[in-house]
Amino acid sequence: MKNQFALDVLEGLNATPKTLPSKYFYDKKGDELFQQIMELEEYYLTRCEYEIFQTHKSDLLKVFANSSHKFNLVEFGAGDGYKTKVLLKHFLSEGANFRYVPIDISGNVLRLLEGSLKEEISGLEVQGIKNDYFKALEQLENGGTRNVIFFLGSNIGNFTYERAIAFLSELYASLRKGDLLLIGFDLKKDPQVILDAYDDREGVTKEFNLNLLDRINNELEGSFDRDTFKHCPSYNPLTGTTESFLVSTEEQTIEIMDSAIHFHAWEAIHTETSQKYSLSNISEMASQVGFSVKENFFDQRHYFVDSVWEK
Ligand code: AVI
Repeated sequence: MKNQFALDVLEGLNATPKTLPSKYFYDKKGDELFQQIMELEEYYLTRCEYEIFQTHKSDLLKVFANSSHKFNLVEFGAGDGYKTKVLLKHFLSEGANFRYVPIDISGNVLRLLEGSLKEEISGLEVQGIKNDYFKALEQLENGGTRNVIFFLGSNIGNFTYERAIAFLSELYASLRKGDLLLIGFDLKKDPQVILDAYDDREGVTKEFNLNLLDRINNELEGSFDRDTFKHCPSYNPLTGTTESFLVSTEEQTIEIMDSAIHFHAWEAIHTETSQKYSLSNISEMASQVGFSVKENFFDQRHYFVDSVWEK
């Protein structure tokens, strides 16, 4: 029985056009590279959302606290909590009545986060849950407390439109009336700014993309020669779709376990979609799923929006 990674890789590389699921970027090396990406000058997304939290922390608390009733700040894919800590510190200093519920599939990530929270923010009530998002929500015993779900970083942009709608619908179904969702969207902007964010000068994003081939070589007995593949990002300003590709510079056949995969010269593998949105795209999405848009919070340049939706 082959593992899921092997099945997905073989299915993707035997399809036309060839594709690899972007969720497989994130092995140990991929996690490190993504961490570096977030610090790149060109990769504005993380800094924009950090700025939004810094600038609007008081207004965000007003929206969440709902006449000082207790709320659960539930974060999907909490990671190192870099941006969220800005709010946690502020909310605590304002005496807000809330508990922080980071959810992550990785126990290690949660342990590190809980350790750093203990050191940096004393007195914070934390209940980490190691599970997938929806199972974790079922697990969360909240006795009528309002849930405020955080889905940050334009992670929604890595879903196709259909998957995004399916994900948000499942989330909507698992929330109660009055619960909130704060969701980060990267906005449409100067195409060059977007292209640079996915094609940085230092080549970290290129390395992140090529790491997928290394991972196949290491884990699935692959025979990719990374020097025969080019990192190619593209942005379509009509649709707002940013896509990353690995393009074979020559005709070649790759082996993966017992399978042979043929590439024509300049044939591409689609590796990632990072969707960019307009405000009307966002409000359409919310209403298609049943949420109402309560408030939008922007950075100064209007590169990014954290949109608060209510069930
Ligand atoms: C995680 N995700 C929102 C990032 C993005 O911008 O699509 C992943 C990434 N890919 C290349 N650079 C960053």
